[in-house]
Amino acid sequence: MNLEPINVGYDAADDPGSFDGAHRELFDLYNRIVWACHHEAAVVPIRERIRTFLMYATWHFSHEEEWMRELHYPDRARHKADHDRLQQDAEDFVESLGGALELADMPAIARYFNHWLARHTAQHDEPLRAFMSQARSGR
Ligand SMILES: [Fe+2]
Ligand SMILES: [Fe+2]
Repeated sequence: MNLEPINVGYDAADDPGSFDGAHRELFDLYNRIVWACHHEAAVVPIRERIRTFLMYATWHFSHEEEWMRELHYPDRARHKADHDRLQQDAEDFVESLGGALELADMPAIARYFNHWLARHTAQHDEPLRAFMSQARSGR
């Protein structure tokens, strides 16, 4: 199995309610899926971690959308559309797995979420992060 945890890159002391703190939590939940893929001998605990990751992502997306509204972030419609798409894709993906899931499928699933998270973070969350820190420093 060739799965690596994501290097979080945010300060571990960040408040979980803050932008960086929420991303640290999200990456940590992803890393727990990876850990489970390496160590669990059954599908159920891995699926539970995927579910927890997706629940947290949903909560986090709604927070980010609130921050974008409050700050009148110019790219918020596109950013929100990507959140909606990620959620829909993840639901479709998890749904498509049905009950036929096997332990051998888990690394591919973890890779899927790695790609899902990495692409959104680079294309949407990093520009928002820069905008938020500029807004806070008064520009
Ligand atoms: Fe986002
Ligand atoms: Fe985010």
